[in-house]
Amino acid sequence: MTDSRTPVTVIGLGAMGTALAEALLAGGHDVTVWNRTSAKAEPLAAKGARAAATVEEAIAASPLVIACVLDYPALHATLDPVATALADRVLVNLTNGTPEQARATADWATEAGAQYVDGGIMAIPPMIGHPGSTLLYSGAREAFDTHRETLERFGVATYLGTDPGAAPLHDLALLCGMYGMFGGFFHAVGLVGTEGVKASEFTTTLLLPWLNAMMTAMTEFARLIDAGDFESRDSNLAMQSAGYVNLIEASRAQGLRTELIEPMRNLIDRAVAEGKGGEDLPGLITLLSATPSS
Ligand SMILES: NC(=O)c1ccc[n+]([C@@H]2O[C@H](COP(=O)([O-])OP(=O)(O)OC[C@H]3O[C@@H](n4cnc5c(N)ncnc54)[C@H](OP(=O)(O)O)[C@@H]3O)[C@@H](O)[C@H]2O)c1
Repeated sequence: MTDSRTPVTVIGLGAMGTALAEALLAGGHDVTVWNRTSAKAEPLAAKGARAAATVEEAIAASPLVIACVLDYPALHATLDPVATALADRVLVNLTNGTPEQARATADWATEAGAQYVDGGIMAIPPMIGHPGSTLLYSGAREAFDTHRETLERFGVATYLGTDPGAAPLHDLALLCGMYGMFGGFFHAVGLVGTEGVKASEFTTTLLLPWLNAMMTAMTEFARLIDAGDFESRDSNLAMQSAGYVNLIEASRAQGLRTELIEPMRNLIDRAVAEGKGGEDLPGLITLLSATPSS
């Protein structure tokens, strides 16, 4: 592991890149920054960062280069023209993308002579450097081990293996869980809202206690999925299909669109149509594959 004060370059100074650079400055690192719109470097320069005039100059300044721009097209628009500058650098890419994009970019960076680590940020900018922030990493193990202490300035650093696609795969899976949860939240709040119930009151008094109680079911669901055990003990899918109709009809009757709750209904109904009415919710996992089973 290197000195915890490794010089670091941050490329991309949107909300997240700025938070990353600030955490490094707070940790006492020499920080060099670059952003397409150079004005965004000024507040960081006022806090002690060095604003590089070009991307090449920024990369040359530090052995560890952290990139965090909008998406992979933006990343490649920025780095492709200066690929040769990445030789002997560690590139940690915290730009959100797909496993395929991460793997292709790892090959590209390796070709340029860099060690590549991909990362997924499980936090929003104000959380960076504070408790509750976790970042997922995968790719070049030696590079990760070398810079682990520096990366921990952002939050807990969780390494998921040498496949650069592993961090984005897990990142996107966690976001799927989050968006599913928020989708249910919005519809629930919208439904009681049609009768003038305040979102805050409903959420604190009823929705959160209910969701917390349901959350505990996930551990058991996961165990049953791993065991391939889908037989219903308590709440079979045929019963849930009959009940789900009421969610849809009541929402419509209250003047609420049902697009957030239709997908689960469609899946439950398909399971019942395929003869799985005696299974419970974990059985739905078998219907998700886009590849038809033989
Ligand atoms: N904010 C969050 O809550 C959050 C949480 C987890 C992960 N992330 C991920 O972190 C990354 C950055 O997010 P952010 O919140 O910092 O976004 P943002 O505030 O919208 O900033 C976008 C950054 O990308 C740069 N950019 C966009 N298009 C570009 C291009 N064609 N060439 C060069 N630079 C380009 C922007 O430069 P300009 O200033 O010149 O436009 C800016 O630095 C994203 O991949 C995002 O998914 C964000």
